Amino acid sequence: MKSLSGRDLLSLSDLNASELHGLLEFAADLKAGKSNPQFPQKILGLLFRKASTRTRVSFSVAMYQLGGQVLDLHSSVTQVSRGEPTSDTARVLDRYLDVVAIRTFDQAEVQEFADYAKIPVINALTDLEHPCQILADLLTIQEEFGSLKGITVAYLGDGNNVAHSLLLGCAMAGMNIRIASPAGYAPDAAIVNQAQGLMEQGGHILITQDPLAAVEGAEVLYTDVWASMGQESLANQRLPLFQPYQVNDHLLEQASGEAIVLHCLPAHRGEEITEEVIEGPASRVWDQAENRMHAQKALLASVLA
Ligand code: CP
Ligand code: NVA
Repeated sequence: MKSLSGRDLLSLSDLNASELHGLLEFAADLKAGKSNPQFPQKILGLLFRKASTRTRVSFSVAMYQLGGQVLDLHSSVTQVSRGEPTSDTARVLDRYLDVVAIRTFDQAEVQEFADYAKIPVINALTDLEHPCQILADLLTIQEEFGSLKGITVAYLGDGNNVAHSLLLGCAMAGMNIRIASPAGYAPDAAIVNQAQGLMEQGGHILITQDPLAAVEGAEVLYTDVWASMGQESLANQRLPLFQPYQVNDHLLEQASGEAIVLHCLPAHRGEEITEEVIEGPASRVWDQAENRMHAQKALLASVLA
């Protein structure tokens, strides 16, 4: 993936459809052991302001397997927590690191970092997007169904960062994406418009408040927590509002007989997903979590090439 050399991934829409498909093919080849690119001496920095299990560990393992090194730079151990400006941090770390993955609140922070740093900057989750998650999700769907085009994904719950990147990714891949959320929790209208503009390979977008309309006949059911990191104080008041969007056996029965269930994790069993469904035969959440590592290895190798 020479075309991604030196590039940032701040939004999934920083990729075009052909680059997205190329990355997924590369990730599949890496997973199958068909390729073993090496980047000795290259250093990845992880600049995180939020907790993380999968993203931190999968990025780290991917970088080690590429022969590189990782610096885990949580904001609490750097001057970031004492308010050093992003523009200063970016220009300094640019001199030390070869690539950086940032997890923070405001999308504008990753954008500002990228404006000031020449090295590739990867969005490892903001309040607006989670592009690396969706690379792994699309890889998982492709493994299950052989291809992406024409597959229908139903996302139930909060129109959040994961929903936004999923919308963009499905639109680029010619998939049908349906998002069902309670009133007031639909995805950002600007992202929906952006996704509409990316549907060059066909597909259809449905934004609804009706969970059954979203799920009917879908091949993939996807959910995420009802209160994201930074919104924990709102969790209890959201429970009754979100209850009809819980991915449970009843909703799963309305989907395609071949339907699989995805969740980016961490999951709150009994809230957005039931124990029966996440541990049941349709669940692919562990393969999905594993694929974070393969997808991000492909991304790292591509931007470092
Ligand atoms: N799905 C995901 O990003 O998980 P972490 O928050 O554990 O990194
Ligand atoms: N929407 C969730 C995703 C966690 C991986 C959050 O932002 O907390």
